[in-house]
Amino acid sequence: MVDLFQFAEKKIKKEKITMLTAYDYYTAKLINKAGIDIILVGDSLGMVFKGDQDTLAVTIDEVVYHSQAVRKGAQDTFIIADLPYMSYHLNPEQAKANAARLIVEGRANAVKLEGGSESRLRAIEAIADCEIPIVGHLGLTPQSINKFGGFKVQGRDKTSAEIIKQHALDLQQAGIFMLVLEAVPENLAKQITEQLKIPVIGIGAGRFTDGQVLVVNDLLGLSDQKPKFSIVIQDVASSITSAVKGYIDQVKQGEFPRKENIYQPYNDTE
Ligand code: KIV
Repeated sequence: MVDLFQFAEKKIKKEKITMLTAYDYYTAKLINKAGIDIILVGDSLGMVFKGDQDTLAVTIDEVVYHSQAVRKGAQDTFIIADLPYMSYHLNPEQAKANAARLIVEGRANAVKLEGGSESRLRAIEAIADCEIPIVGHLGLTPQSINKFGGFKVQGRDKTSAEIIKQHALDLQQAGIFMLVLEAVPENLAKQITEQLKIPVIGIGAGRFTDGQVLVVNDLLGLSDQKPKFSIVIQDVASSITSAVKGYIDQVKQGEFPRKENIYQPYNDTE
């Protein structure tokens, strides 16, 4: 398993860090086999697993449940689990307790939380005090969509870009070991990547971050969203539809079950 010190080394050596989300045992197993550096049990599960319009209704119990499944499939992979909306906002004690659940019950190696406000910094310090590695998340933070007025690119003007840059520095100072930057202009992501000592992982943040993360469903064509920044590398959705059509045909034509699918007859002479 690549550990957090090796992620820091990769930044220095300019070796790109790879991260993908996963939510279930078998996908995690395949991702692990392919050799990914990090699996993120993202609260994007609300959208791509449960079919919600946003991530806001995801609960800590759900992330724990999915993280447990992912860990079973990917025993050798560094796993980050998301702290969902309102699981760390109330006070540092709440943040600590929920982060600990993701580590102890979910078997994740680290937790991720969104935003850079003063109360986020206090939450990060509290979680770090429990020896839990923390990843920050800035830019288009999906838990803030009501404040942003939707899923909108962030940091497009000088003032908001400066705020994101300052938040990145504040988060690093508070103790995160990695930052996810989502949906920001490439030049802003480049500046932040250069100004931080810790690795910066981009999603919709251009080419110059220390690594990339994508939602696995987007990569496989298994989602309704088609974000500009994503890519369908293999259209698994079409393969699934055609496999199901094949099954329907074979059942209707009496081609399935075949001989090899049938158990020996029971002995009716007794
Ligand atoms: O929940 C998630 O999948 C994420 C990624 C989009 C970075 O936070």
